[in-house]
Amino acid sequence: MLFELSEEQLMIQQAARDFAQVELKPGVIERDEHQKFPTEQVKKLGELGFLGMMVSPKYNGSGMDAVSYVLVMEELSKVDASASVVVSVNNSLVCYGLEAYGSEAQKEKYLKPLASGEKIGAFCLSEPEAGSDATSQQTTAEDMGDYYLLNGTKNWITNGSTASTYLVIAQTHKELRHKGINAFIVEAGTPGFTIGPKENKLGIRGSDTHSLMFNDVKVPKENRIGEDGFGFSFAMKTLEGGRIGIAAQALGIAAGAYELALNYSKQRKSFGKPISDHQAIAFKLADMATHIEAARMLVYKAAWLKDQGKSYTLAGSMAKLFASKVAMDVTVEAVQIHGGYGFVKEYHVERLMRDAKITQIYEGTSEIQKMVISRSILSK
Ligand code: CAA
Ligand code: FAD
Repeated sequence: MLFELSEEQLMIQQAARDFAQVELKPGVIERDEHQKFPTEQVKKLGELGFLGMMVSPKYNGSGMDAVSYVLVMEELSKVDASASVVVSVNNSLVCYGLEAYGSEAQKEKYLKPLASGEKIGAFCLSEPEAGSDATSQQTTAEDMGDYYLLNGTKNWITNGSTASTYLVIAQTHKELRHKGINAFIVEAGTPGFTIGPKENKLGIRGSDTHSLMFNDVKVPKENRIGEDGFGFSFAMKTLEGGRIGIAAQALGIAAGAYELALNYSKQRKSFGKPISDHQAIAFKLADMATHIEAARMLVYKAAWLKDQGKSYTLAGSMAKLFASKVAMDVTVEAVQIHGGYGFVKEYHVERLMRDAKITQIYEGTSEIQKMVISRSILSK
């Protein structure tokens, strides 16, 4: 077993670390407070090749491996999880979905500008009445011959108003249940496609979350991804990789909060000594460091399995389940270590604590990850 990163992976990690400090950190508190999308920063992430990391250079991607991708997600998330979720959705849901399952024409037309960062994508599965229970899709895609007619509502869509390309899941043959579901590429501005107001969120407030409404939206037949009825498998297979990205986001949030708490504990004095000299604080730090390292092993292993072409369904769900719990626990402790200072925005840890919560909810809640994990281990 090798526990070392390659020279190239270390360079990519350093580039992401530098980017987070120089480009993300300066405005992160203001963006959180005013729910401001990191437009300039996302543009620069595209220029660095971080929006199509695992896509082949043939389609304008960076041709990097999944381990490099989780390293980047971890570093960006230490500072700004609102920016990193854009990276996660664009890379592991939208670009991956198109590269793995799109037609050659779809890759030429849609994947290339997404992988280069010229355009941003969104992945639209959740609905008001179909979140965890994703097979209960209410949005319909009626087959009209040379086009489909889309009707329905999608909820909580990340990059909802900033995306140009939307991957939309909808039901075509209701009687076939999940086998009747399709996935479509829908362009922003298509008549009948409207975007609801921005959600006012607890965390990742800089990210752009909206509901989407489809009212008799005509989607050309060539924009269906894969065979008729492939849409639910498409969503599940794509989410398997997405969950590794969110696990890496959770890991980064935890690691960022831990680093802040560690530094603070060495500077802040009480009872005549640094608070890190009090065993109660030192032991908190020991627990935080240990849990983060365990999460890191799960996240890197899931990414490594993906790079090896091995199954990563179980590993990805385990990584997300565990890392998101670690993110919640560690950020709460980081606020505690900061005392009253942790409760105000300038010290960053309260934001990380708020951001951590979403990692237990999106791309499959922790309860859904336990369903995936238990079904997998019980079927063996
Ligand atoms: N790959 C391929 N097919 C899969 C699959 C996978 N990983 N997992 C399930 N399937 C198939 C099953 O084989 C089955 O098909 P067959 O009957 O043909 O065998 C079909 O899907 C239905 O599977 P189940 O019977 O297991 O369905 P279920 O309803 O009991 O449970 C579920 C499915 C795992 C709970 C699924 O609905 C799920 O993952 N829900 C969570 C949804 C989710 O993660 N949403 C995230 C939205 S995107 C997002 O959140 C982005 C963001 O925030 C940034
Ligand atoms: P529900 O499914 O109603 O679940 C409510 C509670 O019940 C949860 O605790 C859940 O774990 C539990 N529960 C449900 N079923 C079971 C069960 N069988 N066993 C045990 N417990 C169960 N979706 C997208 O498609 N694209 C996006 O880009 C996207 N971005 C998002 C961004 C944000 C900020 C948020 C908040 C959500 C986003 N989502 C997105 C949606 C997200 O994936 C869903 O919120 C999530 O899958 C849960 O669905 P739900 O909210 O309907 O909760």
